Amino acid sequence: MTTACAPGKVILFGEHAVVYGRPAIAVPVTQVRARAVVEDARSGHGLVIRALDLNLQHRFGTAVATDAPVYALEATVRHTLEWLGVETVPDLTLTLSSTVPIARGLGSGAAVATAIVRALAQHFGHSPTSRDVSDLVYQTEIIHHGTPSGIDNSVVAFEKPVYFVTGEPIQVLRVQQPFWLVVGDTGIASPTKIAVADVRRGWREHPDKYEALFKRIAAITVRAREAIAAGGIAMLGELMDENQELLEEMGVSSPELERLIDASRTAGAIGAKLCGAGRGGNMIALAESEKTRAIADRVREAGAANVIVSVVGATDRKSRRASTKESPPHDLGSP
Ligand code: MEV
Repeated sequence: MTTACAPGKVILFGEHAVVYGRPAIAVPVTQVRARAVVEDARSGHGLVIRALDLNLQHRFGTAVATDAPVYALEATVRHTLEWLGVETVPDLTLTLSSTVPIARGLGSGAAVATAIVRALAQHFGHSPTSRDVSDLVYQTEIIHHGTPSGIDNSVVAFEKPVYFVTGEPIQVLRVQQPFWLVVGDTGIASPTKIAVADVRRGWREHPDKYEALFKRIAAITVRAREAIAAGGIAMLGELMDENQELLEEMGVSSPELERLIDASRTAGAIGAKLCGAGRGGNMIALAESEKTRAIADRVREAGAANVIVSVVGATDRKSRRASTKESPPHDLGSP
């Protein structure tokens, strides 16, 4: 039996603009995880994919509609077996489970695909690099998102804070001073594909407006990288607020997101914004460690379906313990 896991992620700066060649910053969120378990099966069994969250079982190689959730899972397995040079369908059971909520901006598709790639590779005695895993998962991201920038597969596969520009080598960020994030879920599913397509429509209709927004977001992201490297937490908060304003102008925010963002600011967040594709999904608030609980409580009172507290850049055990999973989105067993 081989087991592999992969974390969720949040985008700190630059979502959407990153699809248009601008930089973005993302960090892994290890409080939520996807898990893949590969088990040998009797001869003639074939390869069976069991997705516990989706309550489905699928025999690899049998017909599947391109819009069915299992399509991306089957494609991930196929790409990985091809990459591994496995030519005949192996007799295996692949069991998938995840605590990363689906379509909430936390990278659930990339997390599940990364866990699949790692588990299958390990099972066949390979040790792919993070770059190999990321490249394979990017193929799945195309199925999920249409025109992905590649940031989700990168941050999830590398499992490090990253500064990302499509087509350029990943830059792993140096975090001078750890900082805390309160991540609040609106409870509203918002498929990335739809928000990205809407932004593209807006960009086609009003190219000057959208290019100007992307340019300002890019400048914020560059300054945020400097703030992270210098430990400038107050500056980071200001930049988050500025990024949120531009995302609102872009039309990807929502009243539900803004309610949680306002609640976090009232409770003392240093800055806050939506994270990921927007419209629904999650928001993030930057917090001093001693204020995380008050902010989490206020965000929950404002209607959050779930709240996670996560720390970025901490290496000591005490700080890591400060990260909590407050109430699992769907608890399918501890990864
Ligand atoms: C999705 O996590 C982030 C977006 O910028 C899309 C992408 O980068 O592919 C909205």
